[in-house]
Amino acid sequence: GAGGSPVADLAGRHVVVSAGGTREPLDPVRFLGNRSSGKQGYALARTAVARGARVTLVAANTCLPDPAGAEVLPVGTAAELREAVLGAAGDADAVVMAAAVADFRPAARSESKIKKRDGADPEPIVLVRNPDVLAELAARRRAGQVVVGFAAETDDVLANGRAKLARKGCDLLVVNEVGENRAFGTEDNEAVIIEAGGEETPVPPGPKEQLADRVWDAVTRLLGAAD
Ligand code: CTP
Ligand code: CA
Repeated sequence: GAGGSPVADLAGRHVVVSAGGTREPLDPVRFLGNRSSGKQGYALARTAVARGARVTLVAANTCLPDPAGAEVLPVGTAAELREAVLGAAGDADAVVMAAAVADFRPAARSESKIKKRDGADPEPIVLVRNPDVLAELAARRRAGQVVVGFAAETDDVLANGRAKLARKGCDLLVVNEVGENRAFGTEDNEAVIIEAGGEETPVPPGPKEQLADRVWDAVTRLLGAAD
């Protein structure tokens, strides 16, 4: 709870959280990546431990201290993240996809370092689609399992969020507005939690733990309704 002693309302529950940002290699030394720090996912893992859950944290390229009491599975690429998340999700009560997963990866990964050639223009980088892990989780979820997505939007935040929730088929979508100095790498977050049932909970600007606790509030309410 907010500042008080935590309530063990996730005791006996297994939750899976993905955090950070995937990296898609071009060659042994280069990758396509994104700006996700993993702080929101780590805050979700810490708060879930505090509320009594067994926590699996799938961590993509983060450099943050392991949350005490959580099992941490480090991954690099979107394909590795997919394997780890789907594997851990089997017996999970809730899966929260806070990671920024690359939508595309280079079609080919060079075995050796790509070199300049005198006078020649670079080869274009051809990209292919990555699987959508959240949509897969939602499609194969067991009865009662709660699937949560995150979305960072720069424009029409709520309209895009509602459409994305419907498209992905998840139970909850946490939407925040991003731009210069907003959300990425910062300590504070502000968001709206959108539910498949239509409910929308605005979370005022505050520490990422605060948003994490509001997410777990919504998750425990849905889990309780399903019991
Ligand atoms: N996600 C995922 N697998 C992907 C891409 C995204 O599981 N290949 C998840 C993210 O972890 C996040 C949610 O989907 O929880 C929304 O990600 P977002 O990038 O906002 O959604 P996209 O469908 O990729 O839409 P966009 O074209 O706006 O990037
Ligand atoms: Ca995306």
